Amino acid sequence: MSGTGKAPATRPDPKALLAPLADDLKRVDAAYHRALASESPHVRKLVEHAALFRGKQLRPALVILAGRACGRETDAHVVVGAIVEMIHTATLLHDDVLDHATTRRNLPSINALHGNEVPILLGDFIYAQAFALANTLEDRTAAIHLAATTRRLCTGEIDQNCNRGRFDLSYPEYLRIIEDKTASLYAASARLGAIYAGAPAEQVTALEEYGRQLGIAFQIIDDCLDLAGDERSVGKSLGTDLSERKMTLPLLRLLERVPAATGAKVRQMLADGAVGDPRAALRAIVDFAPDVASAQATAEQFVRGARGHAERLPPGAARQTLLDLADFVLERDR
Ligand code: FPP
Ligand code: MG
Repeated sequence: MSGTGKAPATRPDPKALLAPLADDLKRVDAAYHRALASESPHVRKLVEHAALFRGKQLRPALVILAGRACGRETDAHVVVGAIVEMIHTATLLHDDVLDHATTRRNLPSINALHGNEVPILLGDFIYAQAFALANTLEDRTAAIHLAATTRRLCTGEIDQNCNRGRFDLSYPEYLRIIEDKTASLYAASARLGAIYAGAPAEQVTALEEYGRQLGIAFQIIDDCLDLAGDERSVGKSLGTDLSERKMTLPLLRLLERVPAATGAKVRQMLADGAVGDPRAALRAIVDFAPDVASAQATAEQFVRGARGHAERLPPGAARQTLLDLADFVLERDR
């Protein structure tokens, strides 16, 4: 997939962007591993495998950047960073079961290696430890917020699953699902970073809204990659939204755009579900490039919205990184 076609002169490099946070992210990583230590060699091995699914630690980075942008970073930021990363990892394990995904980060998914029971139980183990870690904090703010966020993550996934095969899903319904299943954890990470910095209400709200819009853009691009990305460079099973008959924005735009007869063929192909490569089967019916571009343009609007909220924060290096991270979401190809 080739981005939005409006790449900035220099492509944002997330590693370089997050370099000023490297020491803190190392502390997050250490807290993550301490919290998941186990007496069971099986659990230890699985935790190590699941840790390889983690990416750039975007959610912990948001906690820390939000704290810095509001002028104060504390030990609690590192702990909250580890908690959100643990919740994120648990959701990935469960998500790969739901999606029957065999690959993540170019590695076999835990369900591919061990069947469905182990990743579900491992996800529960990691999730339980995330809340054990939240209970080590002096106050209950993170525990309260993240319990509510997890409720939303699960609600989004339940709604998505119960809407499988509903090809008349509306844009507001789609948006609600991705806000719940993805954007809520970004929003909570940024919001908690501000709260633990003791920031005033306007900054807490600006960061929450930044995280929400960033998360929506991230998921829209993820949905574009699922349809049009390259499996090797993305590093995970793609086409799963089609094979699971999940409505995503590019597909929604396609069904709005094409003539009724083409739409009927697409619906029939998806409903039959017996195709080997659903992306190739869809491509054989219709060129979906314009619909991917249309969804990318919507993601770009959310990135613009996110940047607008970041601009309400005090100027400085952390605010600039938040602005640059928003651009990276649009340009990512994995
Ligand atoms: C990725 O969607 C999935 C999520 C962002 C949320 C998953 C949440 C759950 C499964 C709820 C479980 C909750 C807990 C606390 C364990 P995707 O399939 O579009 O992304 P992908 O392409 O990375 O697979
Ligand atoms: Mg998935």
